Parts: sequence; C-alpha cells; structure tokens
Amino acid sequence: MTKRFSFQLNATDGKARSGVIDTPRGQIRTPAFMPVGTAATVKAMMPESVAATGADILLGNTYHLMLRPTAERIDRLGGLHKFMNWSKPILTDSGGFQVMSLASLRKLTEEGVTFKSHVDGSKHHLTPERSMEIQRLLGSDIVMCFDECPALPAERDRIADSMRLSMRWAERSRDAFGDRPGYALFGIQQGGLERDLREESAEALKAIGFEGYAIGGLAVGEGQEAMFDCLDYAPDTLPQDRPRYLMGVGKPDDIVGAVARGVDMMDCVLPSRSGRTGQVFTRRGVLNIKNARHQDDPRPLDEHCSCPACRNYSRAYLHHVFRSHEIISSMLMTWHNLQYYQDLMQAMRDAISEGRFTAWQAEFHAQREQGDI
Ligand code: GUN
Ligand code: ZN
Repeated sequence: MTKRFSFQLNATDGKARSGVIDTPRGQIRTPAFMPVGTAATVKAMMPESVAATGADILLGNTYHLMLRPTAERIDRLGGLHKFMNWSKPILTDSGGFQVMSLASLRKLTEEGVTFKSHVDGSKHHLTPERSMEIQRLLGSDIVMCFDECPALPAERDRIADSMRLSMRWAERSRDAFGDRPGYALFGIQQGGLERDLREESAEALKAIGFEGYAIGGLAVGEGQEAMFDCLDYAPDTLPQDRPRYLMGVGKPDDIVGAVARGVDMMDCVLPSRSGRTGQVFTRRGVLNIKNARHQDDPRPLDEHCSCPACRNYSRAYLHHVFRSHEIISSMLMTWHNLQYYQDLMQAMRDAISEGRFTAWQAEFHAQREQGDI
C-alpha cells in the first residue's frame, strides 16, 4: 500500500495553526518555511546544511529547470531529488508566475503562454498540461497548478478575467495531474485584493478539489497592510482540513502576521538572497554586515543562534569576508539567515502548540523594536 499524502492539524491558537503534512519522502512540520532552490540548488548551501537548519521541504521552479537543464534530462538522471541530493519533499512552482517576471515576448492565450527564454532567447510554450508533465518528470512531491498572476495595482476587470482564466487552468491542471498516490496537487487562489473575487476563486477551487490550497497574487507590490487586510479573510475561504500556502512571502514580520491569520506554509528568496548581499536577520531586526560599525566587533551576529556563522565567527570576520568578496561570506550569511527563519518557524510551532501564540507575537515585536545593539 503506497503511503498517501495527508495533513493533520495538531493545535490551533486563535487563527494560528500547527500540524504535520505527511508524505512518502518525510514529514513537513507546519507552519513551514520553504527555502528556495530555484535552479536545483539553494544558492551557497550544501543540501545537508539546508537540512541541518531544520528545513523539511524545498521549493524548486518549473520555469528555470525546463529551460536548463530541462525536465527530460533531470528525469533521465533519476529525478530532481537525486540530481540535487535532497531526499526530503520538494514543492515546485508551476512556471506561469516566473514567465511573467523573467521571460520576454510573452503571449498569453486561453491555451497557455508562449515566451522567449531569459537564458538563450529560445522560444517555449507552457500550458497547464505541459506544466503538470514537467513537474511529474522532476518528481516534485507537491505540484502547483498552472496559473496567472497579475501585477498589482490592476483594474478590477483585469483581475477578474485573470482569476477566471486561472480557475479554468486549475481544472485543466487537475485533469492532467490525474490520480498519483503520495503526490499532491495544490490549487492557487487569485483575485487580487477584491474580497468577492477571492471568494469566487476559493469556491471554484473547492469544487475541483485539491490536496492543498495556495494563496497567490499577494506580495506583488501592494504593501504589508493591504496584504494583511486580504489575509484577514482569504485563509477562511479555504478548507480547514487542508494545508494553506501563501506564495512568495516574505519578511519575518510578514511571516508572523500570515501565521497569525491561518497560513501553514510559505516560501521566499529573501533569507538566501539577503545572505549574499550582506543583509542579516536577527531577533533584533535587520543589520547590514557591510556597515563599518562591525569591523572591530568580536561578537557573533546573534548570540542565541546555533548556526556556524554565529558559533565560530565574529561580526568583524563576517564584515571582512563580505568586503573582500570571499565566497565564504555568502555561505555563512545564507546559513545564518536560513537558520533564523527555521528557528522562527519552530518558535511559532511551539507557541501555537502551547497556546501562547499571542504573547509570543508581542515578544517578537518588542525584541525587534529594541534594534541591533
Ligand atoms: N509566487 C508568488 N506568487 C505566486 C502566484 O500568484 N502564483 C504562482 N504560481 N507563484 C507565485
Ligand atoms: Zn547564526
């Protein structure tokens, strides 16, 4: 009997939830943060190091991998898990969102999207059916529906038309995905900041039926306040007994606010990308290691952090290797930032399980207000 994909809620505290997603490749503790491994690598990290931070699942990208090295090549080499030496679950985004932000000469029709590769200018076609095929060839454990996400602000009519197209594509994605025990297909809610469109989208997705439900179309330029206003109702329109995934979010305070509103999963390039540009996340907020005030500082980035950057190196050293463009700078600061994000998720899971999430949230904000000292 093949092990199936399942989600169990273990505790709720207000709207915040903690639970476990069970997959044949392992358990995903929720709320979960997924580091981004776009091109079959979390940049500057060995996969065993990513696992050591506490990550249960990675995100990969259909768009990048279909262009290079291609899904067919990864399939021939035994699938994405083997290719990149990551044996735990992988979620893949479906490509439409990345086409819109990265490719050129895009042409969108009912059928799908045609575009030119940002890598070599070659022409490609992506449809719900082709996206499902690519994600199957990759061996993705959690497959995302093929959708379209309009940049905000946009006209209401444009948002409505786009959402309805995404819902027709969601149905085609479900049909093409078929029945694959142990694997999951997630629907993606669209509808911008329009409450009735979000509700219409949720009803359409629930009628099709998915193993999990994503909230798409946020963190696209609307600002935190508008995003939170939407998250005050959007998660409630989705099934209680399925994982809810907020796509592409976010900064630590975005993540905490999203969990408080009932989100179970998130992903963002921020901790890994910032690690390479010298931005460091700590309990006391963000610091920039490039700043001259760190050059004689013997203290670690964060005395409470267990990562190698904090256990073995001073701020002065991290400042020096960043300024010198040494590769170890990206390695250490990415590790630290990913450790910070995973520690944040663990702290929220514990607080929710113990029924003290509101107090934890107040302390989270109070510590950040003190600033780095
Ligand atoms: N990543 C961030 N937002 C979105 C979205 O709306 N759709 C998809 N497919 N990916 C995203
Ligand atoms: Zn650290």
